[in-house]
Parts: sequence; C-alpha cells; structure tokens
Amino acid sequence: MSQTDVTILQSLLTAKDDFVSGNDLAQQLGISRVGVWARLEKLRESGFVVEAVRHRGYRLMEEPRRLNEPLLLAYLASAESQVPVFFHETLDSTNSEAERRLANGQTAPFVVVSGSQTRGRGRLGRRWYSPDEGNLYISFAFRPETNHARMQAITIWLGLTVCHYLREVHQLPVQIKWPNDLIINNRKVAGMLTEARIDADRTRDLVFGLGLNVSGKLSEWPLEVAEIATTLSEHAPSVLSINNLAADLIKRCTDAYQSFIESRHLPQMLELWQQYDAFDQRVIRAEYRGKMIEGVAGGIDERGALKVNLDNEQQITVNSGEVTIGTSAWAQQRAAEPANGLDPK
Ligand code: BTN
Repeated sequence: MSQTDVTILQSLLTAKDDFVSGNDLAQQLGISRVGVWARLEKLRESGFVVEAVRHRGYRLMEEPRRLNEPLLLAYLASAESQVPVFFHETLDSTNSEAERRLANGQTAPFVVVSGSQTRGRGRLGRRWYSPDEGNLYISFAFRPETNHARMQAITIWLGLTVCHYLREVHQLPVQIKWPNDLIINNRKVAGMLTEARIDADRTRDLVFGLGLNVSGKLSEWPLEVAEIATTLSEHAPSVLSINNLAADLIKRCTDAYQSFIESRHLPQMLELWQQYDAFDQRVIRAEYRGKMIEGVAGGIDERGALKVNLDNEQQITVNSGEVTIGTSAWAQQRAAEPANGLDPK
C-alpha cells in the first residue's frame, strides 16, 4: 500500500466534483507529473474511474465497490480518525485476528478490517457468512481494564451508535433488536459479536466485531441466509460507498467507546434505545432462569439488560440469550389490540 495513493485519493475526495491539477498533485507529492499519471493508472486498475482533462486535471468519478486500503485510509484521514487500522484482503475472522494481536501485545485501541472472512463467527457458535464483495467485517479492540459488570452495555451502546449513524447520515430505517442485531423491515442487516477476556472481575481486553451487509447480492447468497437478511443498498436512496461507511463507523465507534469509558453515554443510550428498539412494547419470548417466558418488552436498564413485563405485573430483566416475538395466544391477542396503547408495529 502506498502513501502516495492515499494522498492522491485524499486530494480527489476533498475536491469532490472539482478537478485537481496534476501540477499541484506532483508538487504536493514531490514527484513528476508523469509519476502522478502512472499512480492514477494503477488506481484505475483497482476499480477507480478517474477523469483526466487537459489543462484542468483529474476528477474522481467512481470508487471501487469493494474495500480498498488506500481509499479507506483517505476517508479515515478526512474523518480525522487517529486509530490504527489493520487492513486485510481476507482473514479467518477479524475478531480472531484482533484477539491474536491483543495477545501479542498490540497497543489498543485498534481496528481490524477485512474484505472477506473464511471462518467468520456469529453468536452462539454460529458461522457468519462472509463473502468478498459488498459486506463489511470490522473488529474493534480495546483494553478497558475496568470492572466487567460496567462493560456489559458496550455491545448495545456501539450497536446504537452504528444504528444512529445509518439513520442520521444515510436515512436508512434501521432498528436494533436486543441484544445485538440491526434490522430493516424485520430482516437482519448487521450482526455484532463482542468477546472479552476477564481477570477476576476486570475486563482485560475486549473485541467488538461488526458484520454489516452493505451491497452484496442476496441472490448469490445461500438461501437460508438470504431469506432472513437484507442489505443497506436495498433501502438506500443513493449509492453507498463501502469505504466511506467503514471510515465513518471506525471514527464513530472509537469515539463512542471513549464516551462509554468516561461514563458519558448513559442518557443518550437510553434515549436512542427508545427511538430504535425493534421490540418496543411487543410481546416477546426469552429464556429466563432456564425457562422460556413471554412478556412485554419494556426497554433496557443501565447495563443494557432487557426489561420484560410479565402478565402478573412483575418485571424481570433478561441479560443474555435469544429473544423472539411471542407466539402464545396472549401474544397474538395483544398484537391485534393496539387500543391498549401498545403499537404492535
Ligand atoms: C451474529 O449476529 O451472530 C454476530 C455476527 C458478527 C459477525 C462479525 S463479522 C466481523 C467480526 N468477525 C467475526 O468473525 N465475527 C464478527
């Protein structure tokens, strides 16, 4: 990866629809104009469409559809992100790579990004389908060195950060499904997997992994995945840049982690949860103390646990496991009766 390419791309991105003169680029980089031209030829080979007009210069018309290291670094520089990013074309799993780097003493925070994964991991020992075009696989590594109970809400907080960004910046109707799925119209668009090493009651290190379906072709995915999944592009009003998304998410999630560590996140976490909660006031099924229960989802507490109101007026909190929409006669009746103030959605 060449720093020259990053600088050229940064200039082209900053200029947006304007041209950047070859002379200016050459001066900035301390190379000849022919040298600039040669670098641009190389960039074209990796999927960039760059217009060249005599006496005006160069203009970026199209970006590659896949993750591209110099472009990601150029976007990260524009987003003023300082966090080190380790980029791979392919990996077994970005979470595994982050864990290996932590074990080898890498200073945290840092980020691992990959174009594809051969052994992508999901929750509860599942696989995460990780083909090489149109999806994001990112892991964030931290060394919180703090009480583990405090860290329990980190997945919810970072998930809300991603959800808020997609809604606010890209007008995408994303919701969060407790504890760690992002959905659009009931189909999964992202999954999150947080893994931590704990000493006594302290979190020594923690990896937050995000798999986000950006613009992959669902028709080419295995049926059992495609049936329950969606991509951002299916709902986006305009073309999304996967490299821009990755850079923005890296910046936002590392900033959000910092506010979490400084305990500044709580009011916003509870407010965003109310706005984006896919289960809000719906009858859900969850496992509680080894038994399946049904009740009405009533938001989260400060630790990110799901509050559930049972039909005997008792409230319980669920800390882990799968939650699904309730199926009992009681659930169906409540879903059909919005008059009680509940929105069945
Ligand atoms: C889930 O919904 O089951 C969680 C999926 C998490 C997938 C991401 S992709 C990046 C990171 N690396 C992995 O191996 N898993 C997470």
